[in-house]
Amino acid sequence: MKVLITGAAGQLGRALVEELGRRDWEAVATDLPEMDITDRDAIWRALSDHRPGVVINAAAATRVDDLEGDPDLAMKVNALGPRHLAVACRRLGAKLVHISTDYVFDGAKTGPYLEWDATNPLSIYGLSKLLGEEGVRQQCPDHFILRTAWLYGLPGPNFITAILARARQGQELKVVHDQRGTPTSAPALAAQVLALARTEAFGTYHATCQGEATWYEFALLILERAGLTVKVRPCTTEEFPRPARRPANSVLENRLLKLEGLDLMPSWQEAYNQFWDRYGEQL
Ligand SMILES: NC(=O)c1ccc[n+]([C@@H]2O[C@H](COP(=O)([O-])OP(=O)(O)OC[C@H]3O[C@@H](n4cnc5c(N)ncnc54)[C@H](OP(=O)(O)O)[C@@H]3O)[C@@H](O)[C@H]2O)c1
Repeated sequence: MKVLITGAAGQLGRALVEELGRRDWEAVATDLPEMDITDRDAIWRALSDHRPGVVINAAAATRVDDLEGDPDLAMKVNALGPRHLAVACRRLGAKLVHISTDYVFDGAKTGPYLEWDATNPLSIYGLSKLLGEEGVRQQCPDHFILRTAWLYGLPGPNFITAILARARQGQELKVVHDQRGTPTSAPALAAQVLALARTEAFGTYHATCQGEATWYEFALLILERAGLTVKVRPCTTEEFPRPARRPANSVLENRLLKLEGLDLMPSWQEAYNQFWDRYGEQL
């Protein structure tokens, strides 16, 4: 099986390339500048040259706060880009795996979100990702859309690198304790993506690690594993204002993966411990 990855230099893209290296699947890793998913000709060239059986779209504009001031970029990369990929995959008979986000929800639900819950994004990023999902559904029937959340991997920057940088300067940390979600490691998600991509169980899935935490609780585990003993104070979202609104409840349940017997995601603590054991020296 030949797999073409877009956004291969990003957190998930790197984990996918590494995971594919452990299997007998051939990986074609692409990223900016040679493969820009907003460029239909570049997509067409890459797909017709390589003829992959599976395309995994790990490319996205992910700077959530910056995108509030640049909605055109969000729409080009996160809404139109996936649609262009979907058209090309349909025409060339490739499966398309597309990655989406918990930010398609508004966080007002009590309890974990299921795949069929109503979406209502609070941010430009969330809206652009929702439109990207719709483009994929409309243009390529052989698709998998995986909504993930609180993703971390190499190279970052991400929540882990931010916490470690501040703690290493000996600063007291203030960390948000009123947003709930599930930290999800890129290596764990990469293994899940590839397991699903082998099948024909097309559709929209939630794919996060198991369990839930606040950012504060996640920060405590990060500091414990790094052996850093700085003072950490829980705070509210209001105390930490950011340009983009975030859902207070970002917890997704992998209900459809479970129903299909395909849920491989570990607990968020187990995934973080494995991530730290494998990559901690690089952080
Ligand atoms: N990070 C999270 O917390 C999180 C949570 C939920 C869902 N997700 C979703 O998970 C997926 C993977 O996220 P990630 O954290 O791995 O993202 P990431 O680290 O930001 O990687 C995205 C990659 O896509 C590249 N890219 C940007 N615009 C592109 C374009 N027009 N054409 C081709 N490549 C482009 C980026 O390059 P540059 O770095 O040069 O821009 C980067 O290499 C995304 O779909 C994201 O929306 C992420």
